[in-house]
Amino acid sequence: MIRVAILGSTGSIGKSALQVIARHPDHFQVVTLAANRRVEELWAQVGRFGPQRAVLADESVPLPASSSPTRWTSGRQALLAAAADPEVDVVLNALVGATGLEPTLTALEAGHRLALANKESLVAGGALVLQAAKMAGSQIVPIDSEHSAILQCLEGTRRDSVQRLVLTASGGPLRGRNREQLWHVRPEDALRHPTWDMGAKITIDSATLANKALEVIEAHYLYGLAYDRIDAVVHPQSIIHSFVEFVDGSVLSQLGFPTMELPILYALSYPDRVEDEVLRTYDPVRSSPLTFEEIDQEAFPLFGLGVEAGAKGGAAPAAYNAGNEIAVQAFLEGRIRFPEMVDVVSEAIDGVGVGQLTSVEDVLAVDGTARAVATEVAHRLGEARMGTTS
Ligand SMILES: NC(=O)c1ccc[n+]([C@@H]2O[C@H](COP(=O)([O-])OP(=O)(O)OC[C@H]3O[C@@H](n4cnc5c(N)ncnc54)[C@H](OP(=O)(O)O)[C@@H]3O)[C@@H](O)[C@H]2O)c1
Repeated sequence: MIRVAILGSTGSIGKSALQVIARHPDHFQVVTLAANRRVEELWAQVGRFGPQRAVLADESVPLPASSSPTRWTSGRQALLAAAADPEVDVVLNALVGATGLEPTLTALEAGHRLALANKESLVAGGALVLQAAKMAGSQIVPIDSEHSAILQCLEGTRRDSVQRLVLTASGGPLRGRNREQLWHVRPEDALRHPTWDMGAKITIDSATLANKALEVIEAHYLYGLAYDRIDAVVHPQSIIHSFVEFVDGSVLSQLGFPTMELPILYALSYPDRVEDEVLRTYDPVRSSPLTFEEIDQEAFPLFGLGVEAGAKGGAAPAAYNAGNEIAVQAFLEGRIRFPEMVDVVSEAIDGVGVGQLTSVEDVLAVDGTARAVATEVAHRLGEARMGTTS
């Protein structure tokens, strides 16, 4: 029986994880459920799964009066305590944004296996995360479908036989639009993803292709390849979840209909596989045709900017991530337009300068500075827009 803590249980990944666990009560037990502030949703999950612990990260939300055996706590420290809980085998980090970095580090330092959906942890603090895993001998198993695919392709192979990784990208809801057309995109257009049903932030990241840049950086840290050996290609059907090319020219890939339940199940059961009749539905005929195209970097410059930030290293990836979080929020709130997101992120990176991040405090400082710069840029762009429309 694998005891699981789900951080971000009320989100898209968290709910998918609970569906997987509900189908496999002989394999997995929910020990902790944690969310930010959606207390009613968390309450319902607690009623169904009966965890030992329920956590609300936002202290301002009143805790429900509970007579159940579940212990309710709140606040950031309670979230970190849940990540360190010795009663847990796997911490599934499904938080959104760089706020997931400290829980990631805490879980690894406690020696837990980390089932990682929160890619922003690795982007903001990659070196620290790897160091924490190494020091405690903890495992990181990715939940992102692309990185899960790579892990599955690498099973039984030598890491030094890998030549190149090619991540696949759906292309997002705005694939095929040119830069001019993107000025007219509304949040509701960008939130309509053709193949994946996800939380709002990652859906916008998918529309801008910032998500793919975050994933290139994630792959760099997880698999130790230089940036010039990690590519990305648009594959609109989202059936092939990445390619691994070996030194002899052989290429492996992992396939499946797009559902996050499969990589979640693999991350929870790794290195074993658990039988699942619901997920066993792949049909090559129904999947065809499988097509591929290059990323349109002119229309979607946040991809190139992110890969560049990753290759630059130091403070740049953390600034890219923080600037992007602010840009996404500003776009979703209608304050800036779709193509302006890249300006917000670009200035955030320029605003932090260079420098190595050797501690969590360093990362949080860069994150804070980049957010302040990005907020200011978004405000300026919003004001300019009001000026032109009034
Ligand atoms: N969705 C996907 O299919 C998918 C696929 C691959 C990777 N990912 C990655 O998985 C992560 C989660 O994505 P998602 O789509 O599941 O996000 P989501 O639907 O927005 O859910 C986010 C979860 O995190 C909680 N949360 C937000 N801010 C928090 C904070 N400051 N402290 C504590 N908890 C907080 C939310 O709680 P409340 O509900 O209380 O606000 C919610 O439970 C992201 O890093 C994303 O890139 C997602």
